Amino acid sequence: MEVLIVPDAAAAGERGARIVAALVRATPTAVLGLATGETQRPMYAALARRCRTRQLRLAEVTTFNLDEFVGVPADHRGSFRRAMHEQLFDLVEVDAARVHFPAAASVDEVPMICDRYEAAIATAGGLDLQLLGIGEDGHIGFNEPTSSLASRTRLKTLTERTVDGARAAFAPGEPPRHVVTMGIATILSARRCLLLATGARKARAVAAMVEGPLTSMVPASALQLHARATVIVDEAAAAQLTLAAYYRDVERGKPAWQRRADGDDEDAATSPREPDRGNP
Ligand code: GLP
Repeated sequence: MEVLIVPDAAAAGERGARIVAALVRATPTAVLGLATGETQRPMYAALARRCRTRQLRLAEVTTFNLDEFVGVPADHRGSFRRAMHEQLFDLVEVDAARVHFPAAASVDEVPMICDRYEAAIATAGGLDLQLLGIGEDGHIGFNEPTSSLASRTRLKTLTERTVDGARAAFAPGEPPRHVVTMGIATILSARRCLLLATGARKARAVAAMVEGPLTSMVPASALQLHARATVIVDEAAAAQLTLAAYYRDVERGKPAWQRRADGDDEDAATSPREPDRGNP
């Protein structure tokens, strides 16, 4: 697992956006798995900024969001569809026909929605990159602790703690307990995984994910099985990593070809070329 430690949440968003932008510049028709949550907000803002200044186009990408509450309409302020529209889709040019959510109006239609979702991901050619956040208990998507590491998109029941986290966006008694989420195997089948975690409340989960044992009690630890997982953490979320000095050392020694692939040369790649003045 690659661990990149950056100063703060804004820098994490910027760094994540650089990686996503580099991928989309190389493959404008990329298939992106998207995530919601406060952690992703600065990253979507950084992507939207690049689109506004014409450094990036998202018009040809296909997107699949990780998860959604069951029975929550798209325009509800707690729905992940609304969050994605507010934070990204309404700010950039995307093709609505290529935007996907695992949205079920009721638990009865969940099995059909899940089968269709997995089939649509496969038809699109699989996920080139899956973005992720992490819950304080180490969940990814809505794969709560003890989720099967072999799971695909399916119905999940949220823990009391996760419901509490969502409460602010719902009326009292309203937060839904049922969700549809990509499974852990669905996430691991993406060609690259990019997880962002910021703030001290994520420090324990981050350490368990990166340095703890592989266990369904910390669903994010399944990323240890992925050949190309990158974790971007700010200083606060990195506080409990015992090998932090090593991760920084690895990053300092990163060869130029690896840096280029992750957009570290973005300024050079996007600035207008010097006019060709011919041979002197
Ligand atoms: C929810 C989402 C997760 C997200 C987590 C953390 O549980 N389903 O995908 O990672 O919240 O969210 P935040 O970034 O707001 O801390």
